[in-house]
Amino acid sequence: MHKAVTSQVDWSAIREDFPILRQEVRGHDLIYFDSAASSQKPRPVIEALRNFYEHDNANVHRGLHTLSGRATDAYEHARQRVAEYIGAANPDEIIFTRGTTESINLVAQAWGEKFIREGDVILLTVMEHHSNLVPWQLLAERKGAHLRFLPVLDDGTLDVDQLSSFLTPEVKLFAFTHISNSLGTINPVADLCAKARAVGAVTLVDAAQSAGHMRVDVQELGCDFLAFSGHKMCAPTGIGVLHGRAELLDSMPPWHGGGEMIVSVALENSTFKKPPHRFEGGTPNIAGAIGLAAAIDYIEMIGRPAIFEHDSQLAHYAADRLTELPGTRVFGPKEERGALVGFVMDAAHPHDLTTFADQYGLAMRGGHHCNQPLMRRFGVSGTTRASFYFYNTIEEIDRMIEILHAAVHFFSPKERRSPVHPLS
Ligand SMILES: Cc1ncc(COP(=O)(O)O)c(C=O)c1O
Repeated sequence: MHKAVTSQVDWSAIREDFPILRQEVRGHDLIYFDSAASSQKPRPVIEALRNFYEHDNANVHRGLHTLSGRATDAYEHARQRVAEYIGAANPDEIIFTRGTTESINLVAQAWGEKFIREGDVILLTVMEHHSNLVPWQLLAERKGAHLRFLPVLDDGTLDVDQLSSFLTPEVKLFAFTHISNSLGTINPVADLCAKARAVGAVTLVDAAQSAGHMRVDVQELGCDFLAFSGHKMCAPTGIGVLHGRAELLDSMPPWHGGGEMIVSVALENSTFKKPPHRFEGGTPNIAGAIGLAAAIDYIEMIGRPAIFEHDSQLAHYAADRLTELPGTRVFGPKEERGALVGFVMDAAHPHDLTTFADQYGLAMRGGHHCNQPLMRRFGVSGTTRASFYFYNTIEEIDRMIEILHAAVHFFSPKERRSPVHPLS
């Protein structure tokens, strides 16, 4: 196994914390290159969930008994940990949701219903994930607002030179991704937020692909809203975060009515709690929040700068080695890239390629990655994506290249096949 890419961290020891990686799939060692879809979970996170269910499980906020008190403390401690992790001014700026998708829908519905009017413009980019696109389409349709899209250049970066012509005073919201889940592009968030603020636009940053991989500090970024998912950063599925600046959250009406979010209820009307509880109607994902806090502890134990360095080294190495393969087109910026690489090969459709790879225990993703407009922009129906995290190794990438060589051999017409099988 490849020892330390970054000298201070023993990556092999870290990898040992992920029991799921120690298995064979179809008779081969599992190589998990699908962390952009969902990451694996380290033992301390699994143990935190187990500990909660074995010792403290009860509903939060409404019980006067000991277990409910413990569950509430652990849940609110998790909110505090998230606030520290992203540099929020106050834990009350942290709303627990099911994930990035729900966080963005919360803003589109609660903030958007109140503040977006007919003729207003919502600015997005061509590289947005469907979850940072469809909620705004629905809002624009309800309100008679317009959508605008900042273009993406051939190298996979945003066309920031055009920003001033897109960011006019009619723009009420600029929502964009921190890291593209198909291209790996890292957008200049602080700069984009500053420019949006200068025209009075509110900003929303989709941090789904960045929160677990690099330092994300809402004060430094200067964003108004930030959304991310726990499951892409070592935490369980079904837990995510919306960060909103306090004055914005205070100005927003509730979106889900129900228990927990009210102060008092009469038959005809109700009064509501302050944020964040105003936006957390019903029983929340208590264990999920506790798991997210454990994931944050784990990530911070390694250190986000080391994780970023490790993951981007893997992504650059993979992007370089992919160019060795015949008929392969690699997407995304050459200079700076997040922890993933998307590519297409003349040899086979992404679905066939990923199915072939699975025969050798290699888990990748093939398709449009919830980026259909971006795929269209690059003239493809989909790509194959290999995405990495700190438990992956250079050796695994070397093995991926071998498997892809074998795919070229397998999918090429018999008469053009080399007599030597690349995996023999
Ligand atoms: C950039 C980006 N935004 C949003 C999402 C949606 O995240 P979730 O499905 O966890 O809500 C994803 C998930 O792949 C993503 O990569």
